Amino acid sequence: MSTVVQATPTRSVAIPPMPKADPCLVVIFGASGDLTKRKLIPALFDLACIGCIAGQQFDVLGTGRTEMTTEEFRASMREAASTSKDARKFSDWNWEQFEKRLHYVAGDINDHGFYESLKKQIGELEAQGASSNHMFYVSTPASLAPPIVQGLGKSGLAKNAKGWARIVLEKPFGRDLETAQALNKEVLQVFDEKDVYRIDHYLGKETVQNILVFRFGNSLFEPIWNRNYIDYVEITAAETLGVEQRAAFYEETGALRDMIASHLLQLLTLTAMEPPVAFDADSVREQKVQVLRSIHRMTPEQVAERTVRGQYGPGTIGGKAAQGYREEPGVKPNSRTETYVAVEFRIDNWRWAGVPFYVRSGKRLGKSETEIKVHFKRTPQAIFAKTPDDDIEPNVITLRVQPNEGIAMSFAAKQPGSQMKAVPVRMNFAYQDAFGGQAPVAYETLLLDAMRGDPTLFTRGDETENQWRIITPIEEVWQDLPAPQFPNYDAGSDGPEEANRLITSECRHWSRLGE
Ligand SMILES: NC(=O)c1ccc[n+]([C@@H]2O[C@H](COP(=O)([O-])OP(=O)(O)OC[C@H]3O[C@@H](n4cnc5c(N)ncnc54)[C@H](OP(=O)(O)O)[C@@H]3O)[C@@H](O)[C@H]2O)c1
Repeated sequence: MSTVVQATPTRSVAIPPMPKADPCLVVIFGASGDLTKRKLIPALFDLACIGCIAGQQFDVLGTGRTEMTTEEFRASMREAASTSKDARKFSDWNWEQFEKRLHYVAGDINDHGFYESLKKQIGELEAQGASSNHMFYVSTPASLAPPIVQGLGKSGLAKNAKGWARIVLEKPFGRDLETAQALNKEVLQVFDEKDVYRIDHYLGKETVQNILVFRFGNSLFEPIWNRNYIDYVEITAAETLGVEQRAAFYEETGALRDMIASHLLQLLTLTAMEPPVAFDADSVREQKVQVLRSIHRMTPEQVAERTVRGQYGPGTIGGKAAQGYREEPGVKPNSRTETYVAVEFRIDNWRWAGVPFYVRSGKRLGKSETEIKVHFKRTPQAIFAKTPDDDIEPNVITLRVQPNEGIAMSFAAKQPGSQMKAVPVRMNFAYQDAFGGQAPVAYETLLLDAMRGDPTLFTRGDETENQWRIITPIEEVWQDLPAPQFPNYDAGSDGPEEANRLITSECRHWSRLGE
């Protein structure tokens, strides 16, 4: 039996206004692409509407191979913003003010001449009053980041005498340790680390940032946040969605690279890191890197023992038939790409020795949810138990990243009546109920931080390399193993049965999705 107890805020809290960005010109490489339409322009538009970016001193120069005029670019962005749920302030009047700041120039990133025409275009915009601070946003396939960096270096656009020049790099940052190191080397020959913003949009989510507030803004939890009290940690990012329009990208990437290498290792480091001395970029990122450094490279035997991969076959989600991965348009009929991964990570440091971190992520699962469940140890004695069924369930703290963002805590309470019987109850804190209003979407937060020069929520170069140092050996062992028996889970299920073999202790188990 489980009863829910609601946690209420102790006082009403209004969401404070967002800070202001520096004046700047945002140059987007890949402005004719999906991310620009769906995320970047809606986020910049909303930031402009709420007064976070300086009207006359803010411009966007979009670039892509597609030949189009500035007017055509504006029309295409308008269409995207008008239907985007992220462009929350959309109205004809608001858009007309914003679109005056949008410009477009076509060109091929691999063409050396393109950077000269870009420079000329930037010069012309500056002559018309655009800011001399430049933010270069790389929203192209990852393989194009090196030529962009080289082009910006050679043309002199990366060193800006009249203002700052920053570069924002979309994930994935490389595809293994070697490519991440090479890319870091290339980028750091042209830009200083302080001007490099490697984006992982999970860090822009309010509830992800709240992990740090929960841990280090309360004296209640930190003393028990260690191997003495915690039995194991479960981190789940489950999606009901399949690969949608991105089959070509996904076929090359797979769940391990797409989700575990970045988003889930971010959640793990925030859950496991030591308290930073201050909430600033260096202190926070240093502690995150320390966690990654404590995860040892797995041997081939450990990869076989501690990882499970899966691929979905046909099934049913929410009452609707869903096709298998190999039947999706653009996917090879004998694809070996994994759409599900479960990994047991061990953090070999003083705080976490002996506490497994079970991490899983998959597509086309029965529920969409991202959450961290911290399972505490059992009480040392079951003093109320007369039968095994009377055992008190261990406490669990759930940090819900999405949906129903919030925190839940389960504990035992006495069941009313003459018997001394303990039942689990759950105390629930829901972000929406406590604060109401609308929190900024992740891309708004991150774009604003990059325009203000605050890299705290971006990934440092050595952090990305340490992420790949952990992930690449897994990928390499998988390549050498016989082809897995795919598909091995039904669309709409909780994932492959085999994932259960990772958790061998009787007292531990994967939570059912939606539990
Ligand atoms: N979409 C998402 O939800 C999402 C989420 C997280 C991260 N990301 C990352 O964001 C980046 C962009 O993703 P996306 O989905 O927007 O990709 P996309 O839709 O395929 O767009 C790619 C963009 O790159 C441009 N491009 C490609 N080759 C070029 C070249 N040689 N010269 C000039 N421009 C070139 C394309 O221009 P033309 O089309 O005009 O040729 C297009 O504007 C990727 O690194 C991706 O991993 C995307």
